[in-house]
Amino acid sequence: MKQRILETAEPVFTAKNKSKRLQNPAGERQPMKAIDAKDLHHCYEYESGRTPPLDGVSLTIRRGEFAAILGHNGCGKSTLVKHFNVLIPVQQGELTVAGLNAKEKSNLRKIRKSCGMVFQNPDNQFVSSIIKEDIAFGLENYDTPQEKIPEITATVLRTVGMEGYENKSPHMLSGGQKQRIAIAGVLAVEPDIIIFDEATSMLDPEGRREVIETMKRLHDEEHKTVIMISHYVEEAVFADRVFLLNEGKIAAEGTPEEILTNPDLLLQAGLLPPFAVRVFYDLKNAGVILGRCPLTSTELAEEICRLK
Ligand SMILES: Nc1ncnc2c1ncn2[C@@H]1O[C@H](COP(=O)(O)OP(=O)(O)OP(=O)(O)O)[C@@H](O)[C@H]1O
Ligand SMILES: [Mg+2]
Repeated sequence: MKQRILETAEPVFTAKNKSKRLQNPAGERQPMKAIDAKDLHHCYEYESGRTPPLDGVSLTIRRGEFAAILGHNGCGKSTLVKHFNVLIPVQQGELTVAGLNAKEKSNLRKIRKSCGMVFQNPDNQFVSSIIKEDIAFGLENYDTPQEKIPEITATVLRTVGMEGYENKSPHMLSGGQKQRIAIAGVLAVEPDIIIFDEATSMLDPEGRREVIETMKRLHDEEHKTVIMISHYVEEAVFADRVFLLNEGKIAAEGTPEEILTNPDLLLQAGLLPPFAVRVFYDLKNAGVILGRCPLTSTELAEEICRLK
């Protein structure tokens, strides 16, 4: 089956905007867990004598949350999120995705529909050279009636800002546009959770901006649970919550302010703090104290302007 994504009638909880919290048909207002992992362990077959990529990972991601997972190269980020749509089966530990036990084989199809993934390389995600056929392929996997496919395709292309591209070839597009088409393909099956595994790492700055803007829109307007893996710590600034993965475990979790302004924590996990945070501490060491530790260049400029 082609790897793309969920249906769900349960409530959505958006940490940044609680007014967007929706009711489920039963009128319940309880936020639900999108991902609930307890003590996950994973070892690839030929490994020996080193820390396994997952060595007791426990984490909860709420529905409607924008979560960023950060960690150095090879620390197990992809291994972890591949568990979330059962590209990797659980070896040890417990995992629930959209309320479904990931260890139950009978839940596989529902979980894959609930949890879509956008990968790193925009060129490896298409099965057809015509965009509408590519999106239709994913829908056909889930038995969508043929007559509904054109309307769904038009809607998801509009959502990612690519309306009118039905008959174009993905290969004619920029990297950022290709990733947005890949996102449209994922969205077509109505997942609740969308994972972006380094989806911006092969893009130029404009492509990165386009994809980040799309992620933010999916979270803010479409109420999706967004799970973003990135090498660029700066990108985690937009998240509701940041998880730091190191040595096969969650080393820390918190708001972007809590995690990204803590250079010791980031350095221990093999990551450099965001540029603005580094400048804040460099200035501090030089005796210049800013009013607060900025996370972005804009905030840094604002703080510098406030200096008397
Ligand atoms: N299919 C595989 N078979 C064997 N070992 C693997 C496999 N996939 C990953 N690994 C190893 O498991 C460890 C974790 O890999 P993983 O891809 O999860 O890390 P990552 O944090 O996503 O890295 P990156 O930032 O480079 O994407 C690495 O040491 C990697 O070499
Ligand atoms: Mg990876």
